Amino acid sequence: MATFFASCPIGLSDLVEAELKSFGLKTFEKTVGGVMFDSNWEGCYYANLHSRYSSRILKPLLDFHAYDGDEVYYNIRKHEFTKYVNPDQTVAVDAQIKECKMRDQRFLAMRVKDAIVDQFREKFAERPDVDSKNPDLRIHIKGYKNKFIVSLDTSGQSLFMRGYRSMTGEAPLKENLAAGLIGLSNWDCKKPLVDLFCGSGTILIEAAMMAAKMAPGIHRESFGFMKLKDFKSDVWEKVITEAESKELESIETEIHGFDFDKKVLQFAIQNAKNAGVSKFIKFKNTPISIAQAPTEQAGVVITNPPYGTRIGDEDNLKDVYRDLGYSLKNKFLGWDAWILSGNKDLLSEMKLKSTNKVYLMNGNIECRLLKYEMYAGSKRAPREISKNILNDFQVSAN
Ligand SMILES: C[S@@+](CC[C@H](N)C(=O)[O-])C[C@H]1O[C@@H](n2cnc3c(N)ncnc32)[C@H](O)[C@@H]1O
Repeated sequence: MATFFASCPIGLSDLVEAELKSFGLKTFEKTVGGVMFDSNWEGCYYANLHSRYSSRILKPLLDFHAYDGDEVYYNIRKHEFTKYVNPDQTVAVDAQIKECKMRDQRFLAMRVKDAIVDQFREKFAERPDVDSKNPDLRIHIKGYKNKFIVSLDTSGQSLFMRGYRSMTGEAPLKENLAAGLIGLSNWDCKKPLVDLFCGSGTILIEAAMMAAKMAPGIHRESFGFMKLKDFKSDVWEKVITEAESKELESIETEIHGFDFDKKVLQFAIQNAKNAGVSKFIKFKNTPISIAQAPTEQAGVVITNPPYGTRIGDEDNLKDVYRDLGYSLKNKFLGWDAWILSGNKDLLSEMKLKSTNKVYLMNGNIECRLLKYEMYAGSKRAPREISKNILNDFQVSAN
């Protein structure tokens, strides 16, 4: 048994805790940044493959107080790093510091790397090379108020990198955050689900993978733990075979994506193909001004409209949000809508009252995920459809 830490974007640690428990893992401490759990290596492999919301599964190795590079070096030397990889493999160190006497993250990473490679040199007369992009052993060191925690990264590349997204439009959501929006909405994998601004399709692909019981990491080529000396390939085989056997061939759920950009819809279609879920999703080239519910059964809208920080400019976006408010109110009666936006002024243009609010970080942008319930009978007076409605709009994505 060992202790692991599942890190995640701010706002998702409740979901991570619940999913780790559903995997049968024993969680014991939760912070905004993630959840601690106890497990053997099988549980660690399982969490890496199945966690939809985590960013990484880290294995904390040591913690200490330090005020300069020599103290860091001395403390790192106390742990035996040569047991993880061979000297002909590669290493990298990621360092983060907040409110510490040491301020230079690159210097900190260098001192940790020096301490690790010196251990190898002394033991084998050989040292591992540094590969910052794709190392065999990635070590994280985080310092806060002069206390440092050193962890081994069992994930390798971050878990949001599922391996299915070959093309994206502007401002795509990270896959684990997209899954998080779905998790926070409590979608039951049965009701129809629509993304009105689907871009490269991330929310829809994550939803389809959930409905088809497809493990989120099933398309990844590798995880960090596979490069470690004590990787148990038979245990991994068991974990992956069991995951594959649980995938559903078909689903009843209706999943629909709209966007007014034909090119980005082609990316979404390709990404859905890569993920093996294109047969479960219908994409349609539709501007928000003429969007309407694609099914008679009421369902859930989960969407991430543009909000100005990265795409578009705020004045034009006001029309987009007004159209969104109008479409939801008049064309999605009985539906629940969850809207993620980093701009609360634009959200107010929808002229709808939210019934739930969750704060989330989308990269370094503080966002709100707001819930709107479209009760039948509260129809708003029709408004003049804004000028961005296309006169001879063509529908052709699928
Ligand atoms: C923030 S991006 C969505 C990103 C998406 N969640 C992803 O992960 O790729 C917003 C999307 O809204 C689309 N969009 C902007 N204005 C629109 C409008 N008036 N009608 C429909 N789609 C629009 C853009 O083409 C863009 O793909």
